[in-house]
Amino acid sequence: MTSSLGTALVTGASSGIGATYADRLARRGYDLVLVARDAARLGQLAENLKSTYGVDADILRADLSERADVLKVENRLRTDETITLFVNNAGIGPNGPLLTADPDYLDRIVDINVGAANRLAVVAARIFAERNKGAIVNIASAVALAAPFFHGTYAASKAFVLALTESLAADFKDKGVQVQAVLPGYTRTEIFDRVGGSMDNLDPEAVMDAGDLVDAALAGFDQGEVVTMPSLSDYSLYEAFIAARNALRPNLSLRKPAVRYGLER
Ligand SMILES: NC(=O)c1ccc[n+]([C@@H]2O[C@H](COP(=O)([O-])OP(=O)(O)OC[C@H]3O[C@@H](n4cnc5c(N)ncnc54)[C@H](OP(=O)(O)O)[C@@H]3O)[C@@H](O)[C@H]2O)c1
Repeated sequence: MTSSLGTALVTGASSGIGATYADRLARRGYDLVLVARDAARLGQLAENLKSTYGVDADILRADLSERADVLKVENRLRTDETITLFVNNAGIGPNGPLLTADPDYLDRIVDINVGAANRLAVVAARIFAERNKGAIVNIASAVALAAPFFHGTYAASKAFVLALTESLAADFKDKGVQVQAVLPGYTRTEIFDRVGGSMDNLDPEAVMDAGDLVDAALAGFDQGEVVTMPSLSDYSLYEAFIAARNALRPNLSLRKPAVRYGLER
């Protein structure tokens, strides 16, 4: 039997934040399509979700650095009319300082965190708008707002996801499509282990458990937040940041260069 909430398609569902979303959404009663490369882990998670929550859980093996596999996921979004929620989560972290990084690895960050994420978010938004129903959760990062203090390519990839979300949320808000960006800080997952790192040297007060992160993110989703920062207690700080950014708007595109450049003619 199909869930009345519909189906959630979650990328990067084999571990960490994505696997936790799969658990929490199944607990809410969503059926699941679980996407990642590791089919064995996905299969095990699907079996657990079916037996624990009595939902349907399907797996879709895809390497989102490969165009053909991105199109496979896109096709599932297009053809599976039960899908009502897309959790755009798959991503990879930096594997050392930018100054010494292998440019091929930087391309990989962009291919997965930007290329695949953009394609699938835009396609999902259009499909959901046609159906006048659906929601997209884009997993960005707090470093989207802290680029000078973090790995440039990774921070830029997440700033892309944040900007894309703000734009999609504005474009699709009257078309029945909810769009949210989640900006996690450090979250205890496999992300650093996968690139030979560890979270063990971080201040434990700065690292959130994946369960807490996803529960807070879903609470923000329920409240209709476009941008959710699970560790930010005083949301007016974010609103002040947006107000300061908006104050720049009248100055962003003008015929004449600014006086301070000394070009008055
Ligand atoms: N953990 C943090 O501190 C933190 C903070 C801010 C934002 N984030 C973001 O949160 C998201 C989830 O990361 P996580 O922390 O949960 O890390 P994680 O435990 O390493 O999980 C990453 C997931 O992405 C999948 N994935 C990686 N490469 C893939 C590829 N080429 N094709 C398809 N799937 C791929 C992995 O599955 P397979 O290996 O099976 O493919 C895995 O399911 C990422 O977008 C990350 O940037 C994490």
